[in-house]
Parts: sequence; structure tokens; C-alpha cells
Amino acid sequence: MALNFPLIGLQSPKLPSFGSPRISMVSAVRSTTKMADTIKKPLIPPREVHIQVTHSMPPEKVEIFKSLNDWADKNILVHLKQVLRCWQPQDFLPEPSSDGFIEEVNELRERAKELPDDYFVCMVGDMITEEALPTYQTFLNTLDGVRDETGASLTSWAIWTREWAAEENRHGDLLNKYLYLSGRVDMKQIEKTIQYLIGSGMYVRTENNPYLGFIYTSFQERATFISHGNTARLAKVHGDVKLAQICGTIAADEKRHEMAYTKIVEKLFEIDPDGALLAFEDMMRKKILMPAHFMYDGHDENLFEHFSAVAQRIGIYTAKDYADILEHLIKRWKVDSLTGLSEGGRIAQEYVCTLASRIRKLKERAQSRAKQVPEVPFSWIFDRKVRL
Ligand SMILES: [Fe+2]
Ligand SMILES: [Fe+2]
Repeated sequence: MALNFPLIGLQSPKLPSFGSPRISMVSAVRSTTKMADTIKKPLIPPREVHIQVTHSMPPEKVEIFKSLNDWADKNILVHLKQVLRCWQPQDFLPEPSSDGFIEEVNELRERAKELPDDYFVCMVGDMITEEALPTYQTFLNTLDGVRDETGASLTSWAIWTREWAAEENRHGDLLNKYLYLSGRVDMKQIEKTIQYLIGSGMYVRTENNPYLGFIYTSFQERATFISHGNTARLAKVHGDVKLAQICGTIAADEKRHEMAYTKIVEKLFEIDPDGALLAFEDMMRKKILMPAHFMYDGHDENLFEHFSAVAQRIGIYTAKDYADILEHLIKRWKVDSLTGLSEGGRIAQEYVCTLASRIRKLKERAQSRAKQVPEVPFSWIFDRKVRL
């Protein structure tokens, strides 16, 4: 699940439209010791961002989130499911203790033979994205006013983050086990990609700011709902109903998470419409980067762009989806009918409410200019080539 928007501006981020951010120059520390010289690749993340903006939310706004703790208890935690009512990966996989295990695995592998390579590239990319979950829990805990201060904090915000992560953890587990059993993919290359990705983290320019952070997660949960939903739809087209059920079940979780995050932002629009709108504008001007944008497998420097291009071509996640999500959120938060805004707020309203049509026009122009697309090898499928 990804979109092939270039990572423009990562080196020189635009100043946020409110608050007084701190900008830190972050230098990559590369070891120059003798030992590092003897190791082919020193242990540094493969992707680095050298200029990072932090703490852009004015400190007094932290109080808003503290005051919303009880509200979150009643309105956000209800979107979590009790463990006893949750599905588990094992519900969808061959039972290893049963006599029919090998037979079930063989059936799974027979069904997987019908799925094309480009489909597997997208599914692997989705699975790797889900498997970088430690990064996303870390991300939520960067947000001022809502972070889990102890690791076991009893604030509603912290409980949400832990329980949300616990639910999400099943997604990567299930897709990983399915792909392992399918026999169609190079598991070691995939595992290396996951390790590289978690080591790199993510930088989506939310600046420790929960306004920006929850707009990001609202967008992102809907993006994953759409991409897993499309992976389910295509599995059905290729005759694998069981895989369709797996992807569809994950998509339903993402939808539930989207409901929670959009409700938080809806509340921000209610109590601080200007602040929420400026944050929405800020995130959309920066573009919503996908959480796995630092993806790397040790070979392909443009792996994320290549994976995104395949996802776009086969209809897993497209520029149209990006514009549709934006329109959905505008409607969800009634952005076009907000009144009593500051001048900056009115500019932001005009910008976000007209952005989707501009994205669609750009997409049409790009399609009319589309040239012959190359094929590239993906290490995840034993270097077999897939058209972008
Ligand atoms: Fe997920
Ligand atoms: Fe999710």
C-alpha cells in the first residue's frame, strides 16, 4: 500500500503553519574506527533525514489533549475489540498440530500458484509495511500530550496506542505466515527488508504534533483499508477465496481504526477549528508519505517507488485513491462548511477543498504522457522481473 509521490522536501521541510517549531540538524554518526573499515557495511540505517522539525505544537495546546482524556475513554477506546472477540492469525492458517496440516498447506500452495508475480510484489510490500509496526508505535509515542509516558501508562491515549498496536500486530503475523507457506516468495530477502525498514524508522513530518499526527493516522488507516480491500478483491479475481478472506478481514480492522482516528480529529475541529484546519492544510501541502517510504532490501535503491508503481498499475493503491481519501476526510470533518475562521483558516479551507480536483488533473496529464514502462527485478520474488 503506497503511492508513488516523490519524497520531495525531505531535506528542506517547509515551516509548519502554526506554532514555533524547533529545527534540529541531525548528523548521521558514521563510525570511522578501524573496526568499521573491516565491515563491509557499517551499522547505520540505510535511510536518513538530516533536517528534522520537532515540537511545533504550542505547549499550551498540550492541555487540550490532557482535558480530552475522559472523552477519549468513552469515545475512542470503544473502537477497540476485546481479545476474546478478536480474530487471530491462526483462524486463517493451516493448524500445525492437526494430521491434515500438510494437506492444508498443499492446498494453500496450489491456490497461490494462480496468483501472478505483480500481485505477490504488492502483497509482500503490504506485509513488510505491517511488519514495521514497532516504528508506528514509536511514532504515536512521539506525539506531545498523548504519548505513553511509562510504557504502561493508564491514560486513555496510552491505552489506545498499546491496544491499537496489539491489534495491528496480527496483520503482519498473518500475512507473513501466509506468504511463508505459499512458497512463492524469497522469505530471507523479505526478512532483510523488514529489518532494514525498522532500522530506518519513518519521517512523515508530524513534528511531535498530535494535530498533524492524528490527521496522518486518519489518512493512513483509510489508505490501508483501501489497499487491503483491493488485495482481497484481486485475490478473488484470481480464484483464491481464502486469501480474499484474509485481506478482507485485515481491511475491516483498518476501517475500525480509521473510525477512531477520524473521530479524534473531528473533536479537534469542534474545539479548535482553525488549529485543526491549519494542521490539515499543512499535512496535505507536505503530502502524506506512506509509512514504509524508507523501504530497502539491500539492492534496489528505489524499491519503495518500484513497489508503489506496481501497486498503482494493478489497482491496489492509486493516485485516485489518494484524492478519494482526501475528499472522504473533507466530508467526514465537514471542512467545506466551516465558518468563523481566521484568514489563514479560510486560505487553508480553500486549499484543501480544491486539492483533490488538482490531483486528479495532474494524474490525467501524467497518464497522457505515460511512456513505455520498464520491468524491474524484485528480490522478494527471486529477482523475477515485474512491469512497473
Ligand atoms: Fe494494519
Ligand atoms: Fe491500521
